[in-house]
Amino acid sequence: PMIYFITPSYPRREQVAELTRLGQTLMHVPNLHWIVADDNRLCNAMVMELLKKFGIPFTHISSPMPEMYRKASTVPRGVANRRAALHWIQANVKQGVLYFGDDDNTFDLRLFNEIRSTKKVSMFPVGLIGDYGVSSPVIKDGKVIGFYDSWPAKRTFPVDMAGFAVNIDFFLKHPEASMPYKAGYEEDHFLKSLNLTLDDIEPKADGCTQVLVWHTQTTKRPAPTVKIHKQSGTSLKELLHELDY
Ligand code: UGA
Ligand code: MN
Repeated sequence: PMIYFITPSYPRREQVAELTRLGQTLMHVPNLHWIVADDNRLCNAMVMELLKKFGIPFTHISSPMPEMYRKASTVPRGVANRRAALHWIQANVKQGVLYFGDDDNTFDLRLFNEIRSTKKVSMFPVGLIGDYGVSSPVIKDGKVIGFYDSWPAKRTFPVDMAGFAVNIDFFLKHPEASMPYKAGYEEDHFLKSLNLTLDDIEPKADGCTQVLVWHTQTTKRPAPTVKIHKQSGTSLKELLHELDY
């Protein structure tokens, strides 16, 4: 089966570096279609040019976060663009496996062999996340009986976005499936919208004993605080905004 690898991405100075590292991982994976979902009004031309260089089949779509969510105290990141990717799959794909691979995460190539055989929803540990350092389903006799995660928050499925994959035929059978604009609850609501039960979950990565994906994060440098240059009425701040920085 084909893997549809959904990457939400947004303009910031680290973006090209993140997508270069990720693209060069994905170059090693056969039968993979990369959906890069831009949190942007239009598909960023620079990103498009970069994507062409990897030689990976890809789809580049854009769907910006609505302004009202950008102003929220905790911003639900990557939702509008992941939703657009899900709609694209609903409209264009019949079978395969979908996976949400954020642009800053780190993927062991063995992960792809694991998720490719997903029948409904597969789950596996994610490293370098939260206070416990790992988030994982808890397995007993080959079955998921609970979850180990440092932020349970009353979630039914306290897992990270990188910790599960979904069979597309199964996904298509739930046309109401969606991701909410609710920071911290995107995964849980999405999985619940698939009417998932613990029994449906297929543990991967050797019974969830192996870490094959890491929730790495790149240190962000805040936008420079500069004196505003008044030049023919355009401030540097406005200029940077125009350039999507
Ligand atoms: C964690 C989870 O691992 C994400 O899957 C989840 O979306 C996110 O929290 C959340 O709920 O906010 P984290 O590392 O904290 O991830 O967040 P980011 O890596 O900053 O963002 C997650 C993804 O959304 C990335 O692929 C990023 O490029 C994208 N994103 C981020 C946007 O598309 N727009 C933004 O404004 C920010
Ligand atoms: Mn991240």
